[in-house]
Amino acid sequence: MCGIVGILGKNPVALDVVEALRRLEYRGYDSAGVATLEDGQLTRRRAEGKLRNLEQKLSREPLNGLIGIGHTRWATHGRPSVPNAHPHATDKLAVVHNGIIENFAEFRAELEAEGYRFESETDTEVVAHLVTREINRGLKPIEAVGAVLPRLRGAFALAFLFSGEEDLLIGARNGPPLAVGIGDGEMYLGSDAFALAPFTNMIAYLEDGDWAILHRNAVEFRDVTGKVVQRPAQMVAAGAALVDKGNHRHFMAKEIHEQPEVVTHTLTTYIDMVSASVRMPFKETLDWSQVERLSMSACGTAYLAGLTARYWFETLARVPCDIDVASEFRYREPPLAPRNGVAMFLSQSGETADTLASLRYAKSQNQTILSVVNVPTSTIARESHIVAPITAGPEIGVASTKAFTCKLVTLASIAIAAGRARGTISVAREQELVRELIMLPGLMTQALKTEVQIERLAHKLSKARDVLYLGRGTSYPLALEGALKLKEISYIHAEGYAAGELKHGPIALIDEDMPVIVVAPHDHLFEKTASNMHEVAARGGRIILITDEKGAAETTIPTEATIIMPTMAPTFSAMVYAIPVQLIAYHTALVMGKDVDQPRNLAKSVTVE
Ligand code: F6R
Repeated sequence: MCGIVGILGKNPVALDVVEALRRLEYRGYDSAGVATLEDGQLTRRRAEGKLRNLEQKLSREPLNGLIGIGHTRWATHGRPSVPNAHPHATDKLAVVHNGIIENFAEFRAELEAEGYRFESETDTEVVAHLVTREINRGLKPIEAVGAVLPRLRGAFALAFLFSGEEDLLIGARNGPPLAVGIGDGEMYLGSDAFALAPFTNMIAYLEDGDWAILHRNAVEFRDVTGKVVQRPAQMVAAGAALVDKGNHRHFMAKEIHEQPEVVTHTLTTYIDMVSASVRMPFKETLDWSQVERLSMSACGTAYLAGLTARYWFETLARVPCDIDVASEFRYREPPLAPRNGVAMFLSQSGETADTLASLRYAKSQNQTILSVVNVPTSTIARESHIVAPITAGPEIGVASTKAFTCKLVTLASIAIAAGRARGTISVAREQELVRELIMLPGLMTQALKTEVQIERLAHKLSKARDVLYLGRGTSYPLALEGALKLKEISYIHAEGYAAGELKHGPIALIDEDMPVIVVAPHDHLFEKTASNMHEVAARGGRIILITDEKGAAETTIPTEATIIMPTMAPTFSAMVYAIPVQLIAYHTALVMGKDVDQPRNLAKSVTVE
């Protein structure tokens, strides 16, 4: 994930910018850069590779400006190179960016037609030119940024530096985090408080949609509508820990909210944004065209990620595929493919005892072992032939959230690659699917906006004794995941069911006391799920519907609450619908006063049977 830094200082800032960038190195990067103002003129130094390359450049050609921005780039649009490295600049401004600007291609065409010249392949450079165009039309820098921000789609954080403006930096946030550090006559911007720890421990966080106008002695926050808002600064523990909670009460909340950003990281690992194609980050080759069967195994939430991915491996790649919980798989002695079998093991920790035992069994059956893990140095990773990292970053909350969605992005990318290799999807379909994946961070950012509604709903849910979750297609594993999340952190009994199974048993439970949470994007199965909702309503059940505008418009029965998700193509809806499902569990547990990050009886890494 890219890292962002900005400093309004009293002394030359370039080396401090690099120091702050070094504290963001953990996020991963492949080039870096810094821009300052020298006598009001923008000057940049950029280098491919590690920060020491940038430092060497700076020692040969120092920068003396008292104001600057810096960036570590994790390549998304365009390979790691100096022209693609940030800051991107025009004669009016320099900008650094973390995230994805989804609608950059249309802006680029429009700007090129007007004579704006591009030097890089990045999506970021359109932002530089869009704001420059507004300045050329006569707007002041602050107005120009205010005019452009509402036109950008996607999940992003930005920092701007303007030529001739020695006392102005602007930061903006829509998805990925951004913090303002308040010093003594100095002001800072950073991707997190940890980056700013050497300079200040007074930190104010931008809320989603906010932008901040920084001067050395003042900072003004504006919300998405442009209204001035207060974002109080708080003291952050000295040397803020590498994994801190940011401005969240719990790690789980932080991990739910950082999904647009970490999912972007996973996307950049598996996707070439410029050609809209998938690429595998591992050197070992797996010839999917020869694979006869895929056998998956995992535990808990990791298992449910696999259950979701089975739909993609079957429909996109037409690979015969089965999946079982690892504690059963390991003792079932299942016959596996005698030739060209792939066994896939999914695990956040990479240490789960049952999953590891299943891996060892599959290895003894001559399967190619592919593991999808968050910890690349884990035992499961080390014992695998091929490791697909999910790059979610450390997950501290015991209830898995971001590892679930990052696993899904990884699995979707592998399923697309398998489909291409097997000739079951065309290049055009691959591009279409990849473009749908690229939209995910932006859609997740929108989905997070349901939180206020979910907080209210949580008060009612906290009084329930039992909760039923229903879904079809990939919303079925999500129904199971919703029930698992709610059980493990609120201790309310919950069950997930395939909606079609309702009348084969669970319908007997429906009464006016039991909330039924229906996960139903408006896809090809929506009508079927709608019939199940009618069955629930006819028995006095309380329906909480998670759907999109179209689904809500077509729902004729009354619901206790309808949570509206952004409209999206159906294949990967589970990644976006996971967000309200996670938020429901989190807020219900919070209302009930439970220990959200460390629920009773549970461990983050289950290394025993
Ligand atoms: C649920 C949860 C667990 C884990 C399971 C597997 O929120 O966190 O169900 O998913 O224990 O753990 P890993 O993925 O580390 O193998």
